[in-house]
Amino acid sequence: MEIRILPLPDEKRKPRFTDESKLSFGRLFTDRMLLVEWKVDQGWVDARIEPYGPFVLDPACLVFHYAQEIFEGLKAYKWEDGTIALFRPEMNARRFNYSASRICMPEIPEELFLKGIEELVRLEKEWIPASPGTSLYIRPTMIAVEPVLGVKPSDHYYFYVILSPVGAYYPKGFNPVQIMVEDKFVRAVPGGTGEAKTGGNYASSLKAGLEAKKKGFEQVLWLDGVQRRYVEEVGAMNMFFAYEDVVVTAPLTGSILNGVTRDSVLKLAGTLGFRVEERQIDINELMADIRNGAVKEAFGSGTAAVITPVGALSYKDECLNIGDGGVGALTRKLYDTLTGIQYGKIADPFGWVRKIA
Ligand code: COI
Repeated sequence: MEIRILPLPDEKRKPRFTDESKLSFGRLFTDRMLLVEWKVDQGWVDARIEPYGPFVLDPACLVFHYAQEIFEGLKAYKWEDGTIALFRPEMNARRFNYSASRICMPEIPEELFLKGIEELVRLEKEWIPASPGTSLYIRPTMIAVEPVLGVKPSDHYYFYVILSPVGAYYPKGFNPVQIMVEDKFVRAVPGGTGEAKTGGNYASSLKAGLEAKKKGFEQVLWLDGVQRRYVEEVGAMNMFFAYEDVVVTAPLTGSILNGVTRDSVLKLAGTLGFRVEERQIDINELMADIRNGAVKEAFGSGTAAVITPVGALSYKDECLNIGDGGVGALTRKLYDTLTGIQYGKIADPFGWVRKIA
């Protein structure tokens, strides 16, 4: 499908940031966005890149009432030699379509998803920051825009992509975060939508997150929704626990997100001499292993969060430091290796990087 490129009038051009070290996460957006529509009688139509700006939407649109919405997150990196690269974007395309089918939305052809993102990023490449730890965050999204109050799949959707120059997701940067294990609220249950990247999962996590923040923790670690016994994920990250020579993470049983960074960590940890295990992690056993020193390090993984060290875990009335509470050697090595590949500083033996300019 052709993607039309609409003119960008001067008054729609935004002032650029001047200090990359001050970039936070997702507050600043570039000049243009991609928009493609799906209509029940026509399929995907009218792909265009247009000036970034608000949508005028009927207040009855299904997305506002029944949350028929999905999204993705990936990044573009500017290398020292000026190359622009994406990281495993095909995985985002596949996961987007998995989410679409779960939320009864139309799947988008992978070539259109990828071509749309690549053309948009190329046009906006002056917005990609280059300092260490910065990148251009890409947010593909689909919303249901049919104005009707009956509960049903929409007959009209917007697929759109916006871009945001970003720094670290956590204001602390690459420093340990403190996490609270949530034992009152649950995020997902088998058969639910936990594996889909849909806004409702995040809305329902806000209450637990706020309560944890009040107690001084950055995020909550969710337990399984049935027994509240097995570790699942942190809303913005998959979780890993490193023992002497084994790295453990929760398996993809349908209620956690199939993270692109999670998959990359599993492959990288293997090359760093660690065995990787995807297995159920009993929270009581995990706390015992942290207490007796068997767990040496913990970290989260995500596109936004990259690799984030976890310094302490709190469960019920006990808060334990993990290792010495600082950044562990494996966590640092994984961060350096992953970001080294993403920024073209070290070889990419996996073929993960997709150069687009
Ligand atoms: C991402 O890592 O890209 C996400 O979508 C997580 C989001 C909570 C920022």
